[in-house]
Amino acid sequence: MKIESLQAQEILDSRGNPTIECVATLEDGSTGWVAIPSGASTGKYEAVELRDGDPKRYGGAGVLKAIENVNSTIQSAVIGFEAEDQSKLDKTLIELDGTENKAKLGANAILSVSLSVARAEAQHEKKPLYQYLSKFNPDFKGIYTMPIPEMNVMNGGKHANWATDIQEYMLFPIGAPSVVEAIRMNAEVYANLKKVLKSKGYAISVGDEGGFAPSTTKNNEEPFQLMGEAIEKGGYVLGKDICFGIDPAASEFFDNDKYQFKKEGRSLSTDELTEFYLSLWKKYPIVSMEDMFDQDDWEGFKKLYDKTNGKLQVMGDDLFVTNVKRLQKGIDEKTCNSILIKLNQIGTLTETVDAVLLARRAGMTAIVSHRSAETEDTFMADFVVAMGTGQIKTGAPARGERTAKYNRLMRIERELGDNAQYAKFPFQSS
Ligand code: PGA
Ligand code: ZN
Repeated sequence: MKIESLQAQEILDSRGNPTIECVATLEDGSTGWVAIPSGASTGKYEAVELRDGDPKRYGGAGVLKAIENVNSTIQSAVIGFEAEDQSKLDKTLIELDGTENKAKLGANAILSVSLSVARAEAQHEKKPLYQYLSKFNPDFKGIYTMPIPEMNVMNGGKHANWATDIQEYMLFPIGAPSVVEAIRMNAEVYANLKKVLKSKGYAISVGDEGGFAPSTTKNNEEPFQLMGEAIEKGGYVLGKDICFGIDPAASEFFDNDKYQFKKEGRSLSTDELTEFYLSLWKKYPIVSMEDMFDQDDWEGFKKLYDKTNGKLQVMGDDLFVTNVKRLQKGIDEKTCNSILIKLNQIGTLTETVDAVLLARRAGMTAIVSHRSAETEDTFMADFVVAMGTGQIKTGAPARGERTAKYNRLMRIERELGDNAQYAKFPFQSS
């Protein structure tokens, strides 16, 4: 069905900053709404999020220029396009922008169009979004893979005023039989973690992604002990039912050629930081590490990858920024076995799908991820099911913008019944 109109406007994200929402309307009246998230620990190679820079509105963070780009330039260029031809639409958006990093029209503007048109077409075809999006997955065989929900239950770094240097401590419920049960297990551990923290006199306020963020923890290691206690308290077996993952977001504490652990008052070289991660890995059942090194420290990633013999998921987020060029370098140099996938890092649905498929062809895993500032939009939950990557990272089981995604996953799983299967561990994607 042909695109009739695009209507973008300004709303708020979960950090209280302005962001863009867009409604695409097709000629039969079908509509698709989306809202665009935003990062804080953004990679320097990400596509550009266009902000107004006018200090009189939202301290310069307004998105009226991006909105104007959708409602004028982009709308006039794509009216009458067939909404089902996503690759033509996305190619046109990329060419219309004309820059390498979408700096002219803004990746936020471009993505809002790319995704809202897909959602409108799904409505036109009377399909749930995940079913419509599965046409982009050449490996889809009729049974949907439900992702392991990797919940970030302790927050630090830029997301939580540096409560710890490591930005995210996550639960990986690998022993669950389904998403519904996996979410229950994680939510129970989260509730127990709150009790554990209270009993030790720690604050139970949360960071941007809903994880607890007590600033009085002793060091960067203690959160593993606290989470371990909460897991046992819930009657689960650490290392069997639930494992750990971390995202240090190390670009954020890389300064003067050293990794600065402010929490512990020490600075580490790449080798010393590698040893630190290896010691954690030997001590705790950690199955996944993301952005352990700076976004330009390819050597660091490679060293850790080599030393863990493929037994650890070594994942690039800021390193790859969902960009096939950077991913190809990672594949050629064998730096990682996993990539984090964020739609707004690259700015179109087609390019995001390309990154997932390139990773899969190279035998790497792909984890679909939220941003630290989110909205009530659940597009990513349908996307991860459609692409069958088997892993999703979308924060704690708290804060509405995070639970919206988990609730959507539970609804999809229930709707699919026998046509859904929980992802397998060790990780694989299909
Ligand atoms: P961001 O954090 O959205 O602030 O970039 C998420 C992440 O680093 O994975
Ligand atoms: Zn990250």
